[in-house]
Amino acid sequence: MAKSTVEYECSNCGYISPKWAGVCPSCGEWNTFSEKLKQKKSAKAEDHKANIAGLETSSEPQKLSEVETSEKSRFTSNIAELDRVLGGGFLHGAYILIGGEPGVGKSTLTLQIAKSNPGLKILYCAGEESAGQIKQRAQRLKVESENLLIFNETHIDKILEQAQSEQPDLLIVDSIQTVYRTELSSMPGSIQQVKECAALFQQLAKKKNITTIVIGHVTKEGDIAGPRVLEHMVDTVLQFEGDKNYTYRLLRSLKNRFGPAQEVGVFEMMEHGLSEVSNPSELFISDKTEGVSGNAVVCTMEGSRPLLIEVQALVTGSSYGTPQRTANGFDRNRLLLLLAVLEKRAGFNFSNHDVYLNIAGGFRLGDPAGDLGVCIALVSSLLDKAIQKQSAFIGEVGLGGEIRTVPHIEQRRKEASKLGFKQIVSPSGKGLEGVTYLRDAIKKAILN
Ligand code: TYD
Ligand code: MG
Repeated sequence: MAKSTVEYECSNCGYISPKWAGVCPSCGEWNTFSEKLKQKKSAKAEDHKANIAGLETSSEPQKLSEVETSEKSRFTSNIAELDRVLGGGFLHGAYILIGGEPGVGKSTLTLQIAKSNPGLKILYCAGEESAGQIKQRAQRLKVESENLLIFNETHIDKILEQAQSEQPDLLIVDSIQTVYRTELSSMPGSIQQVKECAALFQQLAKKKNITTIVIGHVTKEGDIAGPRVLEHMVDTVLQFEGDKNYTYRLLRSLKNRFGPAQEVGVFEMMEHGLSEVSNPSELFISDKTEGVSGNAVVCTMEGSRPLLIEVQALVTGSSYGTPQRTANGFDRNRLLLLLAVLEKRAGFNFSNHDVYLNIAGGFRLGDPAGDLGVCIALVSSLLDKAIQKQSAFIGEVGLGGEIRTVPHIEQRRKEASKLGFKQIVSPSGKGLEGVTYLRDAIKKAILN
């Protein structure tokens, strides 16, 4: 029988299978296998990989006590929000992935490091734009650093060579999807290319101690070849998020070997680049809606930071047989559950009403501590009665209609009072006076 020249590769995790399969046995994703030509594994190509520009491996084991660490050596980007997400600035030799949808501002953010810390020697490898376009952007951002080198190159060998001769403090690869190795037949941006190139940058960062940022595009579905398959290779995964209709951007650490994961930095995209938002709560709440029924302020945690956001509910008489339930920025199933609890445990019936729930500012509220505020907003709109002024709500709602405690209550309460909220309704417990049942919270917030 003739030997097959094709194999199948999972677009999610890169698993190779000799046969097509509906479910990937490695990552469990459906319909991710696509046909590709078998890669010839010549000894030459393997050797080449190890030898590229002096990245060969040393293979002597060392005693733990003899291993040298560079823990002390961090350097700052001078962008406080970025430093914080990194765990206190860049670590020498760290390998960082910044992922995000096209247009969210990844190139802008990385280029801005050259402005905020002009002392850093930065080698910016641009595969997405021409040097001229980068210059235009740099002018818009008012980057004037003499230490910024723009390198319009996507051939990985040349980038590695240049990085080793220049020895920059920071190597930026924009983006990993444009870089390629000539030894591979697949197109730049294919899983194969992305994986191979990312592995070489990893060696560069670790062996030559060059701090490296690779930028990767992710689509809404997160299924573009790239970021997903290289998350395990890098030390830190930062995700840059933002809604096109709003100016704020969140930089989230999804993984961090050298700092806190789930930390968040907040930025606003302005005319001349990203500006830091050091008090994000002020960004998400407005005083225009105070006194309007259906508007409640909740305090969620983003990383280690409390953040106040506004929940808006609109409950109207239903004109169809089946009432509508729409949730924007909130899990719809969670909304259905809370409606059921309100009906069963507090006696508010929504069955003849359409319910629309919206989290203001395009924000996504996933923290269960937002439950109480959502319930209060729903009842407020149902009764068309405004919530008491200057109130904020914290607490998870249980199926029994009880208000359950959530982590960091003290911190959340502090943030709310700092912003001028007088009545902060939160769960009772541990020397904290608060509400125990949903019914009581509703009375306190709306009915008195
Ligand atoms: P960009 O950094 O090119 O995004 P990415 O690299 O993630 O694809 O950012 C592109 C968007 O940001 C673009 O829509 C224009 C906007 N922008 C500003 O609003 N202000 C600015 O100063 C800059 C440089 C970009
Ligand atoms: Mg870009």
